[in-house]
Amino acid sequence: MDVLAGLPEATILRDFESLEPFLRDESHVRGVPPLAVVKPHGPKALRELVRRAKAEGFGLVPRGAGTGKAGGCVPTERTVIVDFSEWPGDLRVSPQDLCLSAPASAPLREVKAAAEAEGLFYPPDPNSWESCALGGTLATNAGGPNACKYGMTRHWVLSVDALLEDGELHTFGIHSVKANAGPSLGQLLIGSEGIFGFIVGATLRLTPLPREFATLLLPVKRWEDLLDLPGRLCGAGFLPSAFEFFDPAVLAELRAHGPEAARRLPGEALAILEFDDRGCTSEAFLEGLLDLLGPVADGLEIASDARQRQGIWAVRRMTSAFLKERHPGKVSEDIVVPRSRLREFFEGLDRLDFPSISYGHLGDGNLHVNLLAAGETEPARLERQLMDLFRLSISLGGALSGEHGIGLAKRDAFLALSDPGQIAALRAIKQALDSCGIFNPGKVI
Ligand code: LAC
Ligand code: ZN
Repeated sequence: MDVLAGLPEATILRDFESLEPFLRDESHVRGVPPLAVVKPHGPKALRELVRRAKAEGFGLVPRGAGTGKAGGCVPTERTVIVDFSEWPGDLRVSPQDLCLSAPASAPLREVKAAAEAEGLFYPPDPNSWESCALGGTLATNAGGPNACKYGMTRHWVLSVDALLEDGELHTFGIHSVKANAGPSLGQLLIGSEGIFGFIVGATLRLTPLPREFATLLLPVKRWEDLLDLPGRLCGAGFLPSAFEFFDPAVLAELRAHGPEAARRLPGEALAILEFDDRGCTSEAFLEGLLDLLGPVADGLEIASDARQRQGIWAVRRMTSAFLKERHPGKVSEDIVVPRSRLREFFEGLDRLDFPSISYGHLGDGNLHVNLLAAGETEPARLERQLMDLFRLSISLGGALSGEHGIGLAKRDAFLALSDPGQIAALRAIKQALDSCGIFNPGKVI
């Protein structure tokens, strides 16, 4: 029986070849073939999908551009993928209200550009920002380098338009930063990875566009010297808009096998620091920064123009894909610890009995720890290694994911390592909002 026969307002894909690209995202997990992929064009399609999912007992898996890193959008048993790429809607900027409304299908790149065209800034910048869809960034509460200063996606959302279990669309929130009429259901949905309902659009908060950038390459002779810097800078009132790093192993690989621009990167380890405050390129600002950094700043290089700045970021932005290409079997994690605990984290990592290499967002303690040998490691052993890594992060006041989320990839670890009260509360909410279990079954909890 065709559970989707006559579904209104939608494109439907069913043949095996068309379904193949939907089995995975950018994580290492792979889904099972879905019943179909539906691209809804309007509320009638969603209403009918919810009705049939309940009646026929199949699940609905939301999908944006498929750039997630935790398997949140990959299909599980007996599910239909709801791909929001054809969901209609316009981008509308309101400079007076400092906000922007957009459908889930809007490419993040276009959201950021629409804000910029009005001299405004939407800061979230996950590594996939040029290819991901806004809806995916909302469902996963995406991060990125700018989170160091500006926070994550959830900090920039004023209101959320979402499909709930009743099959209808609801708007939670208003076009103002001040909205306090009861608990925020919009915030509950952001980062929920579609387990309570699906986000179809949102109104985002904007801020004036920074126009001055100091982009610095900070090579160090001893890599440990980087580890106290995020805490020291923040403690002294310097808040970088990004503070990224490559550990010695990642830097060596980039230098040996990376693109031309990476071949000349200096240091045993390297940080990329960026400030976007007004006046950050002034002599007074840079002198203050150098004073604070002391001898560790000996090899500091400052990007002298926009082209150099872009070159530095191009190397950072390609690091994930570059390492994946060189080590296809690797597993990349995204643990987080408070920036004041970075040194302890890396000392603990050294004591664990598996090799790893790291890069990522040092400024906010969100580290991409890569287990290069994961593909050749026996699965139970690999699982133990990952659990040790997660326990280390949690023991230092951190978490097993800083920005990528739980999805399928980290579900078992999340269930095993979380406060049982937290899991019970999440499951009670799930039961209340999705009593039939149709929304992204098998994910997160
Ligand atoms: C990055 C991705 C992996 O920061 O989050 O490169
Ligand atoms: Zn990252």
